[in-house]
Amino acid sequence: MKLRLAMLAVAGLGAFLMALAQSAPKPLSSFDPQVKPLLARMTLEEKIGQMTQPEQDALKDPADLENLFIGSVLSGGNSDPKEGNSLKAWTDLYDRIQQHSTKTRLRIPILYGIDAVHGHNNVLGAVIFPHHIGLGCTRNPALVEKVERITAEEVRASGIQWAFAPCVTVPQDIRWGRTYEGFSEDPKVVAELAGPAVRGFQGTDLANPLAVLACAKHFIGDGGTAFGSARGGRGLDQGDTRVDETTLRRIHLPGYIAAIQAGVGTIMPSYSSWNGVKSSASKHLLTEILKQELGFQGFLISDYNAIDQMTRDYKEAIGISINAGMDMAMVPTRYREYITDLKALVDEGKVPLARIDDAVTRILRVKFAMGMMDQGRSQLADRGVQKTFGSPEHRQVARQAVRESLVLLKNDRKTLPVSKGAARIHVGGKSADDLGNQCGGWTISWQGTSGDVTPGGTTILAAIRNTVGKGAQVTFSKDGAGAAGATVGVLVIGERPYAEGNGDRADLALAKEDLDAFHNMKSAGIPVVVILISGRPLILGEVLDAADAVLAAWLPGTEGQGVADVLFGDYRPTGKLSYSWPRSMAQLPVNVNSATYDPLFKVGYGLKYE
Ligand code: GLC
Repeated sequence: MKLRLAMLAVAGLGAFLMALAQSAPKPLSSFDPQVKPLLARMTLEEKIGQMTQPEQDALKDPADLENLFIGSVLSGGNSDPKEGNSLKAWTDLYDRIQQHSTKTRLRIPILYGIDAVHGHNNVLGAVIFPHHIGLGCTRNPALVEKVERITAEEVRASGIQWAFAPCVTVPQDIRWGRTYEGFSEDPKVVAELAGPAVRGFQGTDLANPLAVLACAKHFIGDGGTAFGSARGGRGLDQGDTRVDETTLRRIHLPGYIAAIQAGVGTIMPSYSSWNGVKSSASKHLLTEILKQELGFQGFLISDYNAIDQMTRDYKEAIGISINAGMDMAMVPTRYREYITDLKALVDEGKVPLARIDDAVTRILRVKFAMGMMDQGRSQLADRGVQKTFGSPEHRQVARQAVRESLVLLKNDRKTLPVSKGAARIHVGGKSADDLGNQCGGWTISWQGTSGDVTPGGTTILAAIRNTVGKGAQVTFSKDGAGAAGATVGVLVIGERPYAEGNGDRADLALAKEDLDAFHNMKSAGIPVVVILISGRPLILGEVLDAADAVLAAWLPGTEGQGVADVLFGDYRPTGKLSYSWPRSMAQLPVNVNSATYDPLFKVGYGLKYE
């Protein structure tokens, strides 16, 4: 009997290890036997072409793609097809670009990169998921993986195979405009979600036609910059992170370790500096830590024109960054100059050919791993994938993510949940019926816009109307007026869309229009529920005391129905803060890593329904 049990145990362990082996992605270096013979056939021009990524709408001549052997293109936040933002226009653009690669001697397919940072957010009709700040509050790795899996499917529907995501920044000061792109200020939360996010995009086999190459960004310390250290001495974005190496590693490295363990194929070095040295110029960071110590086997893609910031002399700047370990340069417009200068640097011996070969080896590893080099496998878009694009099934997952991202900050006298049978619910606020505010930055355009930004979504007002009982009346006024006599008021306020440095703010107080709307609604003498649509915690001031309930909804995306699910109690709030909520601006920066930690609400805070 004992022998039988032992044999069963061994068999079980074997099955588990097999499953584990199958679930772990193949190391990218395992493709070197296929890379090496191809590399040996390549000219220097063909190699440098693989290291070049221009902006698709900045190509001086589309034929540059084949004449300069370009290996990748991108669409930055505002780089749309000339025919507009429909799924067809994007797919046709992708196919047009890809067809150029078939006209080259070696026919190495082009990797097309885009910022799919909360869904395929450049494309009309795509499902827009909560930004990372909301996903961080779910503390649900399986859900985050599912969100990125769906994002990958919707990205692939357009043919595009590479997302500049997940952002694994660890913002330490919420005055930064990119706070919402981070899961949390807490490195443990970021590490917990980074791996699942990468697996969501890439799966366990990059050759899967629905896999999308992921990109952990921005390495390293992008979220740790000092206020006022940004260019021009204002703000934080692209500024300087002034900490010792132990602190840098403790706070800002865990997300990358998790991403590398999950097999991330690319990493994007940051615009920002560490103690005055540009991350994109640091051999210690890019080569010694990432590639040698952590064994990262994929390739590094620079940020948008980040190389230009190395030095005034562009050619010198290229040499600095490539020699530091940068493998592919995001050179939106100066790509011809970049190619000429990099070739000259090699000819002059200032960039060793071995460095070029290492960079191209890393890039080709990824392309072989993705099945892009498989003979007979079309690299054009598979339009059959489009049948699930923006589907109800996808939207249901986004709705779940919205529900689980909500954090209940206050709920006096059990104001929430609101009864579906309420006689009248008066809704107010600039973001109650505004899909663009709900989605935030990186939505259809780089900065995002207020208003009816994309089809297929549900505003919070519409969701409330969808949910209430037949007898209930729902009225609305953006300024909150007219609430007198209603059973309850629901006020949806917060921030308008922004992205990157445009979101750096020295003051996070609620906008006057929001305070005015609050006073209007409050003057009606009814219970008032405040829902915050924002990319970060805001200074609530009098609103916190005077509101009967406060719900942080962050930037939930298109599926506002998820807010109604919790508002009316069909689901209970489960979200936990992933950022500290400051009492006042005087407290900033305040985070779990602060020496003194006394915020209004701590990381992990979140009320439940009693
Ligand atoms: C931007 C961002 C980066 C993005 C890249 C391409 O400036 O810093 O996150 O992936 O450019 O759009």
